[in-house]
Amino acid sequence: MSGFPTTRMRRIRDNATLRDMLTEVSIEPRHLVLPIFVCPGEGVFREIPSMPGVSHWSVDRLPEIMEPASEAGVKAFLFFGLPTYKDHDGTSAFDPGQPVQRALSYARSKYPNLYLIADTCMCEYTSHGHCGHIDDDGRVDNDATLELLAKAAVSQARAGAHMVAPSDMMDGRVGAIRRALDAEGFQSVGVMSYAAKLASAFYGPFRDAAGSAPQFGDRRGYQLPPSNPREIIRDALMDIDEGADMLIVKPAMPCLDIASRLRERTDLPLAGYMVSGEYMMLRLAMTSGALDPDRALLEYHLSIRRAGVDVVITYYATELARLISGS
Ligand code: PBG
Repeated sequence: MSGFPTTRMRRIRDNATLRDMLTEVSIEPRHLVLPIFVCPGEGVFREIPSMPGVSHWSVDRLPEIMEPASEAGVKAFLFFGLPTYKDHDGTSAFDPGQPVQRALSYARSKYPNLYLIADTCMCEYTSHGHCGHIDDDGRVDNDATLELLAKAAVSQARAGAHMVAPSDMMDGRVGAIRRALDAEGFQSVGVMSYAAKLASAFYGPFRDAAGSAPQFGDRRGYQLPPSNPREIIRDALMDIDEGADMLIVKPAMPCLDIASRLRERTDLPLAGYMVSGEYMMLRLAMTSGALDPDRALLEYHLSIRRAGVDVVITYYATELARLISGS
């Protein structure tokens, strides 16, 4: 016999100790990655207007964001940079004197136990704001872009990145980057690809933060259509054959279905990126009093883990880690 009244689900829920014992999915500080925006100059700490609570940091002030995070248990960081110059082909992406490379070398020697990931893309470095080389027709040239991305990844590895995270969405970039890293002796540097990166409105605040909005057109020629789950999965799975070590799903909450489908199709570790627009959405709801901030923050991130995600990339990493550990 099964079903009510023989079976009563509340028997396993109505006792706090048992409830705790039976916790299936949890989120711990070790699951979190904190994105950091590094800018040129010295002594700079500047709050980003479109993302209150998130700032631009010059390299010398990185301890002020990395040490509190690490003390709270966050050991991995994802670096984005504001270069000192932009040009048609985004050559500052592979200039060793630029903020991301400087931040990587600085952090790699100062904090040998922390894990450093570099976002690899062209949009922060190109004068037109697209994620690659623009040809004479004004289109992003896929294969020409692969060379630029490979150079950027090698430059980041040379500066000290443990892992590179290509976010451009060109075809073949994971393979091109893997080959370039291997050819330069960086076999131990991993590739965490933004495998399922949707053309999303939720990157709005980030584009202000990174000064990376396209000057014409949009990114729908390379990022994935939110309407096409089969196409998204097919595209994401291709990165595995090219040698990706981890896959990112992004934005996180709007892609929970994609995360759970990918979880069933691959055993690779998955990351979910809770992006700038999700950060702001939650922040506005929490600061207005509409939601209980602590409970909302925990539940939001827990739901990303429940979808089958191993690692959560979030601007809330330090705050959430403190909340989890009660410090
Ligand atoms: C670069 C990149 C973007 C984000 C991560 N890497 C912006 C974009 O694709 O327009 C978005 C991150 C966020 O919104 O928090 N291509």
